[in-house]
Amino acid sequence: MTSAADRIFCAVDTTELDAAQALCRQLAGLVGGVKLGLEFFVAHGPAGVRAVIGEDGPPLFLDLKLHDIPNTVAGGVRAALPLKPAFMTIHTSGGPAMMRAAVEAAAQAGVQRPKILGVTVLTSMDDGDLESVGQRTPVAEQVVRLATVAKASGLDGVICSPNEVAAIRRACGPDFVLMVPGIRPAWAAKGDQKRVMTPAEALAAGADHLVIGRPITGEADPAAAARRIVEEIDG
Ligand code: C5P
Repeated sequence: MTSAADRIFCAVDTTELDAAQALCRQLAGLVGGVKLGLEFFVAHGPAGVRAVIGEDGPPLFLDLKLHDIPNTVAGGVRAALPLKPAFMTIHTSGGPAMMRAAVEAAAQAGVQRPKILGVTVLTSMDDGDLESVGQRTPVAEQVVRLATVAKASGLDGVICSPNEVAAIRRACGPDFVLMVPGIRPAWAAKGDQKRVMTPAEALAAGADHLVIGRPITGEADPAAAARRIVEEIDG
């Protein structure tokens, strides 16, 4: 059985290499993995990722949200394979051919292949934003539609907000991986996150993994914050 700590990916959202390395050291053994995203990757590239994760570092969630023609996305996934990410992200709105190409590229890594997760509708967009780019479907419906297409195209799962978990779980079944940001322990500041759940609530709703950033990284003692979150989940 996986422990509560294994479910947590800490979002290391920084362009500072030293800070990312220090955080990783502090969180060793306390979280299930580390999420490095676009800002860190643009600043430091694969060498920076290696410098943070190291040879036997924590599982890597490489969150680059790739979105391009199938051939280019497949090339991006292949280029990332030497970093041995456990998870990578692509945009589901790139369509079935693009998603299949990403999955095929990931499969070249064999048993150690990264799981490919899809981004559905960015949580920064509401119904009005979707309409302004010509999509009349309400966000909630479009999220489930894209998750369903993602599953049919071979993706391992999607990133989704806590309030989308139940509907996607219903539509895509128990084996579809749901990686969920927008998590706030009761004692943490919400910051710019509007629709949040506590770690225990999100897991009870059906989340597989939790992406938690500032409630850990913004604390004076990140290791203590991670421990406190795990203790809360375990109740
Ligand atoms: O600091 P916080 O816990 O809000 O960090 C959440 C992480 O998850 C950030 O890296 C953020 O970019 C990411 N994320 C999110 N909401 C989404 C998709 C990704 O907060 N819908």
